Amino acid sequence: MCVVSLKLPHFVLSQFFGFLLLVTFVFSFIRWRHGVAKNGNRRLPPGSMGWPYIGETLSLYTQNPNSFFSRRQRRYGKMFKSHILGCPCVMISSPEVVKIVLVTQSHLFKPTYPTSKEMLIGPQAVFFHQGPYHSHLKKLIQSSFLPSAIKGSVYKIEGIVLNLLPIWENAHTVNTLDEMKKYSYEVAMISVFGNKLEADEMDGLKHLYHCIEKGYNSMPLDFPGTPFKKAMKARKLLNERLRKMIEKRRETEDHGGGLLGVLLGLKGKDQLSDSQIADNIIGVIFAAHDTTASVITWLLKYLHDHPHLLDAVKMEQEVIKCRRLESNRGITWDDTRHMPVTTQVLQETLRIASILSFTFREAVEDVEIEGYLIPRGWKVLPLFRTIHYSSDFFPDPGKFDPSRFEVAPRANTFMPFGNGAHSCPGSELAKLEMLILLHHLTTSFKWEVVGEADGIQYGPFPVPKQGLPIKLHRISEFDAFGA
Ligand code: HEM
Repeated sequence: MCVVSLKLPHFVLSQFFGFLLLVTFVFSFIRWRHGVAKNGNRRLPPGSMGWPYIGETLSLYTQNPNSFFSRRQRRYGKMFKSHILGCPCVMISSPEVVKIVLVTQSHLFKPTYPTSKEMLIGPQAVFFHQGPYHSHLKKLIQSSFLPSAIKGSVYKIEGIVLNLLPIWENAHTVNTLDEMKKYSYEVAMISVFGNKLEADEMDGLKHLYHCIEKGYNSMPLDFPGTPFKKAMKARKLLNERLRKMIEKRRETEDHGGGLLGVLLGLKGKDQLSDSQIADNIIGVIFAAHDTTASVITWLLKYLHDHPHLLDAVKMEQEVIKCRRLESNRGITWDDTRHMPVTTQVLQETLRIASILSFTFREAVEDVEIEGYLIPRGWKVLPLFRTIHYSSDFFPDPGKFDPSRFEVAPRANTFMPFGNGAHSCPGSELAKLEMLILLHHLTTSFKWEVVGEADGIQYGPFPVPKQGLPIKLHRISEFDAFGA
């Protein structure tokens, strides 16, 4: 009988174990990429999880995000998985599924934001909550920005425009984004504080707010010298100022106007603490500021690039200006409701610029949608921009064509202000700001772009390169009602 010795040479054994390790690694890698590691055989959406830990983060941030999303949509369909910034996620570009996430089943998907943003704005701000606290706050904020509430601000907003225009006219070059930030900041301040702010109070708050802004997109590293640390320091100082202002208004029982007046007027069980009020005041300024400024910058760019549309807007605004001059008055709320051409240009700008390309939610439990599992803790990204650029809903989507809004878009396909529980309460104010500015700008001035007119930069929203430097020229008598 032949006996085979089991004593294999050392190098054979190590090669065998090396091979086993390699097979295990390849197998785990394949399972990772397909996202089945933790979810047994339950069916996850198609897609790739990329490389372990980094996932597909590099692909997303080193190419045009539109190409990233559309390439995957073509390959996997309107619901696909990925792995971004250390988180497994599901990206969605189907209006029906986005509606489930944001509207009908919104309680199953909580909003999520980067830690630095939550700490700098304040954890009690409306964005970060769900349930009764969120609905209570949302109703209050919404009530302060309904058409009936902002109608009375038209003359104040016009006053801000009429003060800014001569400054822009006399400047050698105007950085549109920077100047529109100033404009939207001033509008946000009167909406939040009413008319009760002294100029030095306003400047002090502005300075602190700008320091905070610099930390929004930083890593939450609490070390001396980091942008986050500096921003947190400014946040504490701002809190202190707001607390004093709140204390004074409570003591004098003169709550003032604006959102602060509404929040201070609450009684009994509805009453909010000082820090809840401060977090929401800062939150609304944050939400109102860069968003509106970025969209206005695109408006000026698209009107500049499409002279026939600029002429159409001008013609519409001239008619209103004539009516105003005849009755010797400034612009009114009713005027802004009768600007169909300008409103369509605004809607097309919101669609094509899609400054909020997507938003983030997190599944609070395992959720099944259209036969696919979204595991608890996974991020869910409704892709607004991809839907806005779908030829199924917007034919020839790359073309700037405001006339497409002569017909209302299909439900849940046009979401520049989001949808459902967390949709934007400031949409009417943002549109009002743009219409008032366009009225005076197009009837009294023309503008040329200085330097390179094309290209995009991100900061954090997509905006025209270098913030669109322009030169303003007066073309007709500039009436200063309300200035
Ligand atoms: C053109 C300008 C604006 C755009 C494009 C915009 C867009 C949006 C979007 C898409 C959302 C929903 C985010 C999500 O679902 O995660 C949102 C939420 C919000 N926006 Fe706006 N917004 C603009 C201006 C404003 C203004 C002027 C205000 C001031 C009142 C404001 C206040 C808010 C607040 C407080 C929320 C959070 C609502 C919640 O979480 O319930 N926004 N905005």
